[in-house]
Amino acid sequence: MNERILSIKNSFITESASVSDTKALEILRIKYLSKNGLLPALLSDLKNVAKEDKPAIGKELNLLKNFVESSFKEIKERIDSAGSSSKETIDLSLPARALPLGSKHIITQTMEEITDIFKTLGFGVYEGPEIESDYYNFEALNFAPDHPARDMQDTFFINDTFLLRTHTTPVQIRIMEKQAPPVRAIMPGKVFRNEAVSTRSHYQFHQIDGIFVDHKVTFAELKGTLVAFAKQFYGSDIKFRFRASYFPFTEPSAEMDITCFICKGEGCRICKHSGWLEILGCGMVDPNVFKSVNLDPDVYSGYAFGMGIERIALLKYNITDIRIFFENDVRFLKQFPALK
Ligand code: DAH
Repeated sequence: MNERILSIKNSFITESASVSDTKALEILRIKYLSKNGLLPALLSDLKNVAKEDKPAIGKELNLLKNFVESSFKEIKERIDSAGSSSKETIDLSLPARALPLGSKHIITQTMEEITDIFKTLGFGVYEGPEIESDYYNFEALNFAPDHPARDMQDTFFINDTFLLRTHTTPVQIRIMEKQAPPVRAIMPGKVFRNEAVSTRSHYQFHQIDGIFVDHKVTFAELKGTLVAFAKQFYGSDIKFRFRASYFPFTEPSAEMDITCFICKGEGCRICKHSGWLEILGCGMVDPNVFKSVNLDPDVYSGYAFGMGIERIALLKYNITDIRIFFENDVRFLKQFPALK
């Protein structure tokens, strides 16, 4: 009898250890505690035990019964509390947590805004390499060999042949080499200059160049296109003017000013009290540039323009320090959340 008690106790311990839900617990209960279960059977066998052994065996049986019953209680509590705590942690009705969402950098947004305007005017978009050769960056663009822009102060030279492009204008050469006129394209991208970093200048910034080449392209078309762009981008009430200027790759060359959109032309700190803001350089493609891409300047003509994006964004959003564009300070970036 003692052996049976021990073996039932052991098998109960083993079987109860793996019980983790109410269904398994009920199966265990039927096996051990129900009317036809192992424990009642054991208890009813007590009557067959010799009289003198009865007290000791009866005590063992009682201990086993108490042990089994208290184990059941414990297991049940464990199952119940696991069930209720998992109910607490998974609330399917809770709204989902918002994921932190990034947005395009304000320089990217500004470039896309400008690019979109030129697309509506029929311009395609092209990109060129940031590592450029001296030939594309300078020579093909009619920079004389002793032009000061080639000086070490302005250009990051990699070796005698390669450099970090100082403007997006070399992409004009690359397009004209590949594509016969008419060519109508804009070229956004990053440029680099060997300049001291300050509130107004940086060694990296962005530009958008544009070019249109065909038969009999005129300066009037250049003005018309740029005025259409400026009115869309800065507002239709701006006034504009073109000032004569100089670039090696255009002849004649000009710079375009618009009335200061901060003070509306009255004069303020941003426009240095002139009422005007310079927004881009432009001109008619120099005949020497056409020659370097094997186009006959007597047959073709074209206009070109280029603008700096940081300068435009600084002015537009009244930002006083260009360095902030490259610092990736989330407090700054978050102020320009537009998602396109
Ligand atoms: N590449 C010039 C610069 O970096 C800007 C420029 C002026 C581009 C006139 C042009 C242009 O295409 O026609 O300052």
